[in-house]
Order: sequence, then structure tokens, then C-alpha cells
Amino acid sequence: MDIDSLYPSLLAPFTLAGKRLRNRLMHASMSTLMGENGRVSDRLIQYHANRAKGGAALIVTEPLGMAPHQKVPSRVRVWNDDNVDALKRWADAVESEDCRLLAQVQDPGRGRHAPGRNPDAVGACALPDDLSWTVPHALTIDEIRRLIDDFAQSARRLQRCGWSGVEISAGHGHLFHQFLSPWSNHRDDQYGGDLAGRTRLIAELVAALRALCSRDFIVGLKLPGTDGVAGGIGPAEAAQPRSLARAPRA
Ligand SMILES: Cc1cc2nc3c(=O)[nH]c(=O)nc-3n(C[C@H](O)[C@H](O)[C@H](O)COP(=O)(O)O)c2cc1C
Repeated sequence: MDIDSLYPSLLAPFTLAGKRLRNRLMHASMSTLMGENGRVSDRLIQYHANRAKGGAALIVTEPLGMAPHQKVPSRVRVWNDDNVDALKRWADAVESEDCRLLAQVQDPGRGRHAPGRNPDAVGACALPDDLSWTVPHALTIDEIRRLIDDFAQSARRLQRCGWSGVEISAGHGHLFHQFLSPWSNHRDDQYGGDLAGRTRLIAELVAALRALCSRDFIVGLKLPGTDGVAGGIGPAEAAQPRSLARAPRA
């Protein structure tokens, strides 16, 4: 039996946010560490162009530098105009192969690989990371608003450079996940507490993206299925993403 008969939908086209996907094959976000000192490298572009040539209909990149505090050298800077020409070349190399290119919006928060102080670590609250023991700076409400604005402005820059959308990474124990989970979010303001409070950061980010980018700009969301610890997100709560879908659309 050929693949078309086994999986009749897999290679069939699909429309997402008004954009045509040639099939249902999506390349999930994969950190390549090919960014060089915050710059797009030719290797990074070629890596994604090859996967587009290979048949993927949509690629999500690794996390990009979408706010000024994200200074890791392998993160490509998007929060200013340094890389505009290279970001256009990157989008063109992939989109010209009939493949949609999405940038991942992510911040590790307290979730670090290296133990120690990590002065750029921000979080829902100042609780130590379970693995690295990093204690993040608890974001104030003003800092949350600035972060949302930085991410949305960076997304708009990407759209101007020809990118099809972004994916918000709210899994893998990173910042958005830390806000979502009662395990790591002990805030007592409007960004903590019940499900509406813990999902507020993401709902406001989606609203900001919708306000700054056009309706055909794809906004994806990667969510955790379970935290695997008592007092965290379990499968029942993970199956209730409705409060996020209610974010106002521009
Ligand atoms: C080498 C490697 C790097 C990854 N980098 C990222 C990343 O930067 N961001 C992310 O959200 N997921 C990352 N992932 C996770 C994948 O996107 C995906 O969620 C995971 O591999 C599970 O999917 P799979 O079962 O199809 O492999 C990475 C996975 C691997 C193996």
C-alpha cells in the first residue's frame, strides 16, 4: 500500500489562517544553535531551506531573540533592525519552496541548563528551578506588559520580512509554561490564581499579536499535556484551552 492510501489526509492541502499548506507535515521547533552572535548564519538558512525542499508544509524555527534581555549568542536578534535583510533572505529561502515559516516565541524563564545566578532569568515568581536551581526575577506587571509589547513588535517585524507567523512555546517548563502551571505560578495578582489568571499572559500576548499583525499571520501555541507532578497541570486541565481561544481579535 502506498502512503496516499494509508494516510489519505497526510499529503492533502490544508488552509490555515487563510494560508495554503501543501500537506499536513509540520517540522517542530528544533534548536540548531546555528545563530552566530545574534546573527542569522548562512548555515541556519540552508538548514531550513533543505527541510522545505524535503517536503514540509510548515516549519517552526528555534526560539528567536524577541526581547532585549534575550542575549544568548545563538538566538537570532529580532527585537531591533540588525537582521532585517537576513530575516528576509531566511523567509524567502523557505517560503519560495511553498513552505510556511514560523518563528518560535519563547523565553526559558527559570528553566536553565546552567546552575548559578543567570541574571537574565525572569519568571512568574521567585521560586527556584527544579533542575538548575536558578531563582528568577519575578516579573512586575509593568515588565509583563513590556515583554508582551516586545514580543508583538518583533512578530510584526518578522511579518514585514515575509514570515508567515509565530508559535508561542508554552511547554517544556519555560516561561509561559511557568505562568500556566500552579506548580510554578504562586502569584496573587491577576496573572496567577485560577485558570483565567494563569492563562492571562498568553491571552494578552495573543491579543497583542492580533492587534499588530494581520489576520492571516499564523499564531500557533504549543501547550503542555501534563506536568507529571502533583499540584501541576494534569491532563484534565490541559484539555481546557478555551480561555486562551477567547482572546479578543483585532
Ligand atoms: C534536538 C532537539 C531540539 C529541540 N528544540 C526545541 C526548541 O527549541 N523548542 C521547542 O519548543 N521544542 C524543541 N524540541 C522539541 C520538539 O519540538 C518536539 O516537541 C519534541 O521532539 C517531541 O516531538 P517528537 O515526538 O515528534 O520528537 C526539540 C527536540 C529535539 C530533539
